[in-house]
Amino acid sequence: MFKKLALTAALTLSLGTGAHAAGGAGHVEDYQFSFEGPFGTFDQMQLQRGLQVYTQVCAACHGLKYVPIRTLTSEDGPGMPEEQVRAYAEQNFEVYDEEIDDWRPASFNDHFPENNAAGAPDLSLMAKARAGFHGPYGTGLNQLFKGMGGAEYIASLLTGYTGNDKEEAGTILYENTAYGGYYSMAQPLWGDDVEYADGTEATIEQQAQDVAAFLMWAAEPKMMARKEAGFTGVLFLTVLSVLLYLTNKRIWAPIKARAKEDS
Ligand code: HEC
Repeated sequence: MFKKLALTAALTLSLGTGAHAAGGAGHVEDYQFSFEGPFGTFDQMQLQRGLQVYTQVCAACHGLKYVPIRTLTSEDGPGMPEEQVRAYAEQNFEVYDEEIDDWRPASFNDHFPENNAAGAPDLSLMAKARAGFHGPYGTGLNQLFKGMGGAEYIASLLTGYTGNDKEEAGTILYENTAYGGYYSMAQPLWGDDVEYADGTEATIEQQAQDVAAFLMWAAEPKMMARKEAGFTGVLFLTVLSVLLYLTNKRIWAPIKARAKEDS
């Protein structure tokens, strides 16, 4: 008995340290996003606010080169009217056009421009490239219950600055609790960085969650369709199971009846 306990403890300890070493050392808050759960959907107003934060703050350094601007009209996404999206593209972004060998205002059919000022990574797939939740003990169970946590990670990152910084090889690094250490992105959000078109108060938390939701949509624009297809699949399989159960009963009924007579 005692031996077994000791073994379990040793195993737990070694697995525990293993998971820690594998990364995800930072603290990630478990936010409740509207798109979570099997029936969750994106909140159009939140995506539009997130787009505003991305455009006015993040786009100064980051790109979104895999995201077509026209998808902003998507009903499963921000659902903006086409005219508004056309004006938005033209007013906010310039793209390099090889045909005219010059820069011109972005159009409805362009992608968001790429940008990697100061080594800032492209954010198109970031919400799916980072996991917010890990463990316990490397099992991944937390992700089963809380989701992958890409959006949670981004929101936590934007609100996770401690205010400490240090210089390393000529670069200033900033301490962040979600990153779990020092890295080179200076705190981008301070509160009231944008003035929301819909009147929502632009606190750091609000802006962080809005832009995280927007980046989740950017990385997985078909999430709603995927969930719907999944639900239809489960429904179909359930009905099929019931029918097969009944068929099975029916087929075996005469044989079972005979077996009863024989005994
Ligand atoms: C002044 C330039 C700048 C601005 C503005 C900026 N970033 Fe960054 N960002 C960076 C740089 C540089 C890195 C790379 C940091 C590193 O890996 O050391 C980065 C990294 C990131 C990462 C990846 C972190 C990781 O886990 O590797 C995310 C996510 C991110 N930024 C999101 C945002 C969002 C969202 C905004 C807007 C609210 C934003 N950034 C605004 C420069 C910027």
